[in-house]
Amino acid sequence: MRQVQIAPSLLSADFARLGEEIKAVESFANMIHLDVMDGHFVPNLTFGPPVIAKLRPWTKLPFDVHLMIAPVDPLLGDFIEAGANIITVHPEAGPHIYRTLQFIKEQGTKAGVALNPGTPVDLIKPLLSIVDLILVMTVNPGFGGQAFIESQLPKIKDVRRLIDESGRDIMLEVDGGISPETASLVIEAGADVLVAGSAIFKGDASHYDKNHKALRGQND
Ligand code: DX5
Ligand code: ZN
Repeated sequence: MRQVQIAPSLLSADFARLGEEIKAVESFANMIHLDVMDGHFVPNLTFGPPVIAKLRPWTKLPFDVHLMIAPVDPLLGDFIEAGANIITVHPEAGPHIYRTLQFIKEQGTKAGVALNPGTPVDLIKPLLSIVDLILVMTVNPGFGGQAFIESQLPKIKDVRRLIDESGRDIMLEVDGGISPETASLVIEAGADVLVAGSAIFKGDASHYDKNHKALRGQND
């Protein structure tokens, strides 16, 4: 199986101990996935720039910030200042997706675009020259622990092909319902980065490394 990157999603971590939870995944995580929700774009609320800024000193790992807020543009600067290394936005969260991505990149931050299960893959074609990451959602955004939507697998393959044809260095990230069973399907379809919340933060911290190995298909 191809070697993929793992991005633990803090959404399933203990919110009263987020710093310690980062430390508990640091040895195997390639980046930390931070889900920002506003109770409006998605029906759930999490945290914003002040919490991210407080977490920043806990690790040198890249902060992969997934924004599920609308309007997204007014807060971009605050997330960049808080220490985001990658900012991923949904095209439905603002009027001008290209401008939003351009703004993120102008600040020296990597820019990603997220495709909801109902969002067509064609939308990314005009963005391939600018994006650094394409996130394919395999659940409806808003909650951890939801069931993987298998009908998104062909979309992952389509995105893989578009990235390869572009010749650009663009990460293909998959988010939602990743388990040891679905991980192999999305890797097979071409994913580079697996976001995993409930599959990593299962049991206490002594289980996290074993949980992550199961996603990589390493059962010891
Ligand atoms: C959902 C979030 C995900 C979430 C995934 O809207 O974008 O990052 O944490 O959770 P699991 O891995 O439990 O499906
Ligand atoms: Zn996410």
